[in-house]
Amino acid sequence: MQIVILNDATEVAAYGADIFTAQLNKNANSILGLATGSTPVALYQALIERNKAGEMSFKGVTSFNLDEYLGLDGSHLQSYRHFMNSQLFDHIDIDNANTFVPPGDAKNPISACHEYEEKIAQKGGIDIQLLGIGRNGHIGFNEPSSGLTSRTRVKTLTKATIDDNARFFGADEYQPHLSITMGIGTILDAKKVVLLATGDNKADAIQAMIEGPLTAACPASALQMHRDAVIVIDTAAASKLKDIEFYRHIEAENQKLQAYLASL
Ligand code: F6R
Repeated sequence: MQIVILNDATEVAAYGADIFTAQLNKNANSILGLATGSTPVALYQALIERNKAGEMSFKGVTSFNLDEYLGLDGSHLQSYRHFMNSQLFDHIDIDNANTFVPPGDAKNPISACHEYEEKIAQKGGIDIQLLGIGRNGHIGFNEPSSGLTSRTRVKTLTKATIDDNARFFGADEYQPHLSITMGIGTILDAKKVVLLATGDNKADAIQAMIEGPLTAACPASALQMHRDAVIVIDTAAASKLKDIEFYRHIEAENQKLQAYLASL
């Protein structure tokens, strides 16, 4: 894992936006894996600004979102489809027909999961997968105990996740307790994975992901097995790392190596 520790959430968003901008300028037909939640909002804002400034285009891009609530259709204000339209897709030059979110209103959710996997494979696989992390170490809606090689499937949400996300739902509004989510195996298949985390409420999960054992009890620890996982965090999210100075040192050395390679 490449561990990048930055000062604050603004720097984390800008660093993430740099990775996505470079990817789109390298391959205009990139396949992007996207996430919802509070963490990527600033990154999406940065991408919108860069797209409007002509720094890159989404015209050839195909996107696949990690997850969706089962039981909400895309017009529901709390659906992840609605989130993606309002936070990103409606403001960039992407072709909406090339944006995929698991169908929360699928009549047969099990076949919808298989079809989602097939669609990703058909498009040639995901180039960069964006991730946030839950306080319990979940990625996507892969809650603790999720199989480390799991594929897209229906998952039951933990009480912790339901409580964390209750802030988005009205007091008397139906809040789903099931989801369709890419599996951990699906996420690990992405060529590159970029996980963003900010704030001290993520510090325990970040510590477990980076320094804990590889275990289904912390689904994000599966990223220890990925060949190109970049973990971009602010100092608050990094605050419980035991070996923080070593990670800063490795990254400084990495920067020097990149600068040297660029000078060749
Ligand atoms: C969202 C997702 C979740 C979130 C995680 C963190 O598509 O898959 O795993 O990334 O719950 O959410 P925030 O960013 O709201 O703290």
